[in-house]
Amino acid sequence: MRRGTTVSLYELAWILPSIAISIGMLVALVVFAFGAGVHLPTDEGRVEPTAVLTTPPFDQPGTVEVGRGEYEVRMIGGIWLFTPNEIRVPAGSTVTFVATSRDVVHGLFIPRANVNVMLIPGQIARVRARFDRPGEYPFFCHEYCGIAHHTMWGKVIVEPRP
Ligand code: CUA
Repeated sequence: MRRGTTVSLYELAWILPSIAISIGMLVALVVFAFGAGVHLPTDEGRVEPTAVLTTPPFDQPGTVEVGRGEYEVRMIGGIWLFTPNEIRVPAGSTVTFVATSRDVVHGLFIPRANVNVMLIPGQIARVRARFDRPGEYPFFCHEYCGIAHHTMWGKVIVEPRP
């Protein structure tokens, strides 16, 4: 083999995987964005952090049935608990979390569902998730919020359909 050919083969051995990796990442991005619905949460509105407890819908935190198999959870993050911290829905439900913080930055992370948002004082976060399988879906605060950050958690209990 001539020397020039060897060099270009080595170059190809680097260039081709570089192109393949870029294309692979692009495909993964498209699949997760449009297939799995992974996207950045958008700004859904504002709420005065000091008046969260008296501002609808946060003045009545909890789970509300808004349609057939559709639930809305109005949730407040505060040091160091979620209100509500136990949510019950039947299997096959779609749940929209409407959440905010009443003090510092918190997070709402449900590892077994497609939920991962920051709860920022003054901002309302809205995120939807489907719960098909019965069981417990723990959720956590995943933004460090002080000494008892690790105790800030709760669970979605998905009950089997009768
Ligand atoms: Cu709330 Cu960490």
